[in-house]
Amino acid sequence: MQLIDLEKENINKYNELKPIIGGVISQSCEQVNFLSYLIKKYKPQKVLELGVASGASSIVILNTLKEILNNYHLYSIDYLSYWYANPNKKTGFLVEEKTPELIDKWTLKTGGLACEFMDKICPNGENDIDFCFIDTMHMRPGEILDFLMVLPYLKKNGVVVFHDTVLQTLGEKYKNYDCNCILYSAIKGIKYQPLKDTSYPSNIGAVILDENIKDNLYDIFSLLLLSWFYKIEENEYLQILYYFEKHYNSYLIEIYKQAYYYNNALVDKKLKNGKLTNKDICKMYKYMILSKLGIKKYKDKLNNYKEKIWVKTKKIIEKELILS
Ligand SMILES: C[S@@+](CC[C@H](N)C(=O)[O-])C[C@H]1O[C@@H](n2cnc3c(N)ncnc32)[C@H](O)[C@@H]1O
Repeated sequence: MQLIDLEKENINKYNELKPIIGGVISQSCEQVNFLSYLIKKYKPQKVLELGVASGASSIVILNTLKEILNNYHLYSIDYLSYWYANPNKKTGFLVEEKTPELIDKWTLKTGGLACEFMDKICPNGENDIDFCFIDTMHMRPGEILDFLMVLPYLKKNGVVVFHDTVLQTLGEKYKNYDCNCILYSAIKGIKYQPLKDTSYPSNIGAVILDENIKDNLYDIFSLLLLSWFYKIEENEYLQILYYFEKHYNSYLIEIYKQAYYYNNALVDKKLKNGKLTNKDICKMYKYMILSKLGIKKYKDKLNNYKEKIWVKTKKIIEKELILS
């Protein structure tokens, strides 16, 4: 781990952009300066950002690129088309509002996972992304899948920056947000962090990917076998599966499939132990007894009730998973 003293490097992008991004960006002053420092150091021409939200980090990236290069482009992807903190605002609204002069250097894709857009960002399958900033779910499988979606298009020795690498240590409510900690630890390469940050260690980290990273992918795919904290719908599972089949070998694909089925089973197991109220249980017993007596109306009601409880329990579990 190489620690960067940003004061010595004389980087103060945060102060410069504070009037625009202050109070909106989910990064500390040190993290913004670290991101800016890395861009200045590596001078990437093609940059990819996963997790845009208001567009504050997009501004940091674009503004720094503008300072040092003429020929550059930032591609940003967000799963949501609206800002999670205010659904009336479009994802990335801040770029349009505050830095319209940077728009022509920026392509924003929203409403899907990275795998939906990578072919358009890198047509003809070029692996020419120099620099990637990842700041998405923070809960497993989140960034593990995101990273595997962009890896095929990253340049040899490309730079990847992860935000929230120690988020799980920052309070009880974040205890399940350890995705970037394990992912950042597992990726092979030279690692950098700011020397000082609001937390220790810093909550942001960069890795210069090892040349042979693509030969060591078990290290990353196996992380998918840990438990997941949210559910992936079947259509997205399949979308990712088809995409991975184009880029990874069958051994790794089997790990992904196993991870998905294992995690689905975990959710089903939770369903069996789902928390139902006493009222739910009493009603169910009442219907069961009456249906045993052969009263059709109650048999139908029982079946209906079972269905409803299934939906209710499913919701409870999904809510728990989101909260946890
Ligand atoms: C913490 S916010 C990003 C903050 C932003 N980077 C900044 O510093 O201002 C996380 C964003 O990631 C998006 N997101 C979540 N999962 C995603 C995924 N798998 N791919 C792309 N975006 C995702 C969310 O919609 C949300 O807007």
